[in-house]
Amino acid sequence: MKLTFKLNGKKTLIDAPGNMRLIDLLRERLELTGTKEGCGKGECGACTVLLDNQAVCSCLVLSAQIDGRSLITIEGAEKMKEAEALRTAFAETGAIQCGFCTPGMILSAAALLRTHRKLSAAQIKRHLAGNLCRCTGYSKIIEAVEAAAIKLKNGKRK
Ligand code: FES
Ligand code: FES
Repeated sequence: MKLTFKLNGKKTLIDAPGNMRLIDLLRERLELTGTKEGCGKGECGACTVLLDNQAVCSCLVLSAQIDGRSLITIEGAEKMKEAEALRTAFAETGAIQCGFCTPGMILSAAALLRTHRKLSAAQIKRHLAGNLCRCTGYSKIIEAVEAAAIKLKNGKRK
């Protein structure tokens, strides 16, 4: 099936089976390996990407579903000020250890920050409940999201 969609801001055309999982299309056909596969069944959030600015598990989306839509992966994060602020905050607060969960965490949190700048730790925890991390114990991640929200609220990109 011929698919036309916006990928990290660029019009993209590809011929691929409509029933191919989006994560496979990204990693195997488009060589965008920043999106990680953990559980493969919608439980860990490692494969999170933004589809029309909504966080989705790319292991649960079929390629046919992205036709005509807009997709952001971690490789395109710098094009989105929320994701870019999060990347910096994750690095600064030590919220990255092995890094396997980080692309999904950042994109999931970016979807939240697009609509909310003032956030409590409880709201962040609730929003990120579908993103699992085996390393950090989560407190640094929550701290990083709070720090990014404050920077964005104050209009700083760094
Ligand atoms: Fe998709 Fe775990 S790999 S949710
Ligand atoms: Fe290792 Fe989250 S940093 S799984």
